[in-house]
Amino acid sequence: MEEIRVDLGERSYSILIGDGIIEDTGEIIREWELDGKVLVVTNPTVAEWYLKPLTDSLIAAGFTFKVVMVPDGEVYKNLEEAEKIYNLLISNQYDRKSLLIALGGGVIGDLTGFVAATYLRGVRFIQIPTTLLAQVDASVGGKVAVNHPRGKNLIGSFYQPSLVISDVGTLLTLPETELHSGVAEVIKHGLIMDENYFQFICGEIQLIREANPGIMTWIVAGSCNIKSRIVEADEKESSLRAILNYGHTIGHALETITDYTGFKHGAAVAVGMIAAAKIAWQLEVLKDASLIDQLIELCGDFNLPVRIDGFSIESIIEAIYYDKKMAHGKVNWILPCEIGKVIISAEVSESLVREVLKELGGSK
Ligand code: NAD
Ligand code: GLY
Repeated sequence: MEEIRVDLGERSYSILIGDGIIEDTGEIIREWELDGKVLVVTNPTVAEWYLKPLTDSLIAAGFTFKVVMVPDGEVYKNLEEAEKIYNLLISNQYDRKSLLIALGGGVIGDLTGFVAATYLRGVRFIQIPTTLLAQVDASVGGKVAVNHPRGKNLIGSFYQPSLVISDVGTLLTLPETELHSGVAEVIKHGLIMDENYFQFICGEIQLIREANPGIMTWIVAGSCNIKSRIVEADEKESSLRAILNYGHTIGHALETITDYTGFKHGAAVAVGMIAAAKIAWQLEVLKDASLIDQLIELCGDFNLPVRIDGFSIESIIEAIYYDKKMAHGKVNWILPCEIGKVIISAEVSESLVREVLKELGGSK
């Protein structure tokens, strides 16, 4: 089992990574002295595979617990579902020593974290992420939120978990598109921070595609290590943490214009990373165009989109700039200089963005 420590003073915590470790959850919680009355939050899809090993281990370790089931889907990451969890906590007299466990992907993690941050002004919670995206990104760094009808993640906070237990064995049951969506964030981590990690990914494509637990342990540990170092330096995203948004400017616009149904998050980020690299090349921020070719090839290896054929350039531009104009803000672009190094720049003209979108197949 690997352990990555996130050093945030009194909010520090560990990320434990291994194959089959869900079965040890009860024991691990005792070892980490996180005892308390437990509420497990999950969804029916994940529960079918992983609820029993988790609850068996809680029973074996002598925990009192209840389980709350949230329907599966992004649309349920909302205040209504949060309220149902609050109601259950209140009617069962969960106190400030309670422990919430999020068993699932980023939707369950964000929702459970939001409830933990707000119930009785904050109770402890553990993340047990079961998607690659949640293991390498959503479960680390303490961004918790629910969606509002007007937009994603509009209601939330920074609230760190007490522990993250990442069982890479769970990735074997993940649908391929979900696995690949997580891989896009893994590629991002290499590109923004660590060339060796990026080259390691390039050398292990087949094993990653198979979600081989040995390789995935290294991948999840590698990404968590990179993300943790960034979060330690800038927990609340006042500067450096923004580099984690590489690929997200255009990626988020693509998700918005397709109503969050056209692209998996990572797929949108993949093509967003390619677009941002092309912008960087035009601005001579990127020194060697082979990075773009390598990125396109790597995304292709995981069936991630590398073009935006048929998508309207106007709609993408509106989605990128609308919110910022409303807030009188500028769009901050994350641009690669080389593999492992990016800069943050607000100096990207709208006309250059249009040009690159056209090059990638965007339509009028
Ligand atoms: P998700 O939670 O919707 O999970 C994707 C699908 O996989 C779901 O249908 C789920 O039931 C299923 N699933 C989960 N684990 C499985 C397993 N092991 N086997 C089979 N099926 C499984 O999606 P996600 O991609 O994990 O997370 C997306 C969410 O995360 C979004 O709401 C996004 O806003 C949030 N997010 C948060 C952060 C953060 O820093 N807090 C970062 C990135 C994304
Ligand atoms: N997912 C980006 C961040 O955690 O900052």
